[in-house]
Amino acid sequence: MDKKILITGGAGFIGSHVVRLFINKYPDYHIFNLDALTYAGNMENIKDIEDKSNYTFIKGDIKDIDFINALFQKYKFDAVIHLAAESHVDRSITHPNDFIETNVLGTANLLNAFRDIWKDNLENKLFYHVSTDEVYGSLGKIGLFTETTSYDPQSPYAASKAASDHLVRAYGNTYGIPFVISNCSNNYGANQFPEKLIPLFINNIKNNKSLPVYGDGQYTRDWLFVEDHAIAIDEIFHKGKNTDTYNIGGFNEWTNLDLIHLLCKQMDKKLEREEGTSAKLITYVKDRAGHDRRYAIDANKLNKELGWKPSVTFEEGLSKTLDWYLENEDWLKNVTSGTYQDYYKKMYD
Ligand code: NAD
Ligand code: DAU
Repeated sequence: MDKKILITGGAGFIGSHVVRLFINKYPDYHIFNLDALTYAGNMENIKDIEDKSNYTFIKGDIKDIDFINALFQKYKFDAVIHLAAESHVDRSITHPNDFIETNVLGTANLLNAFRDIWKDNLENKLFYHVSTDEVYGSLGKIGLFTETTSYDPQSPYAASKAASDHLVRAYGNTYGIPFVISNCSNNYGANQFPEKLIPLFINNIKNNKSLPVYGDGQYTRDWLFVEDHAIAIDEIFHKGKNTDTYNIGGFNEWTNLDLIHLLCKQMDKKLEREEGTSAKLITYVKDRAGHDRRYAIDANKLNKELGWKPSVTFEEGLSKTLDWYLENEDWLKNVTSGTYQDYYKKMYD
């Protein structure tokens, strides 16, 4: 094995796709997947790779300093790809401290432990921090987020991710830790927890439940298929320039309402329902507090420097995603039983 790589949050949505890609593509790397298995972490997401010889799963919390220090001392990871986070904006509005503790302090714990094992011997080491476009705040009708857009986070989630980005850069500057950061737009695809717009609406359409559209539904997001995000992370991990930031996006802006209508149309077809059936479930509800109006990423740096671009159109990616949810009923049932019901009642009833 020529590299020991720690991937955090690998039982979650994006992390599981990244872990799978690295395990299958790089048999010479040993991948350690560290995940606390919060409500968002799910061993089902990675069950197809759990027996691979270049893979080790470790259940643990990045908030636990002693545990993290001992783990780094034991395995001496050459690189970290850090995805573990509290990731849902609505939960950050009701429970901001969970986000500060995991996203800010948890990231600091990883950076400290990484610095402690390598000290001045940092050649060929890398701390890859996976972040979000939400750190840039909200756009007006025109313009795109570039890598030099000023930070202006608007939700506790966005602020906690911005703080973690700042920490990574500060540790690079102060201690010489080699790092890269990527800031990505909204992901969709298999294994996303049904608190986020697309899987929530798929589940509700299946169950003939209302589709809660926040505010006027004219909020805009830039959607990227999760497997394309994983490919971008692979490219940046291997070819990204030390201390650089890369924006990752789908070149694919949709207002929520347009996206929801496309989703409804595709669901009607797949469920063999009369066209227009799912759209009748659309219900306008109270807006999210501090709701960012528009996100849109300029991913040209990544495209020009590393040759990355999305591999599927939105219609194709969305169709694949709907098929996955319809074929994986048990996955959806398991994650929407128990505490999910309490969350749903508190959020939407
Ligand atoms: P997710 O919520 O699906 O998964 C997060 C994972 O982290 C879960 O497996 C969870 O168990 C684990 N985790 C949470 N707290 C932990 C802790 N204290 N210690 C160890 N593990 C912990 O999130 P996601 O959507 O897959 O996002 C992954 C990363 O990508 C996050 O850093 C997020 O900010 C970033 N991101 C997400 C999106 C998106 O659209 N989902 C877009 C851009 C960036
Ligand atoms: O931009 C990247 C970010 O995308 C990631 O950093 C976050 O982790 C990820 O959760 C996502 O954040 P958003 O807040 O944009 O995603 P969400 O799926 O929660 O919402 C998408 C849009 O849909 C947003 O404008 C709010 C709206 N929405 C969402 C839900 C859950 C609704 O109208 N109704 C809903 O029930």
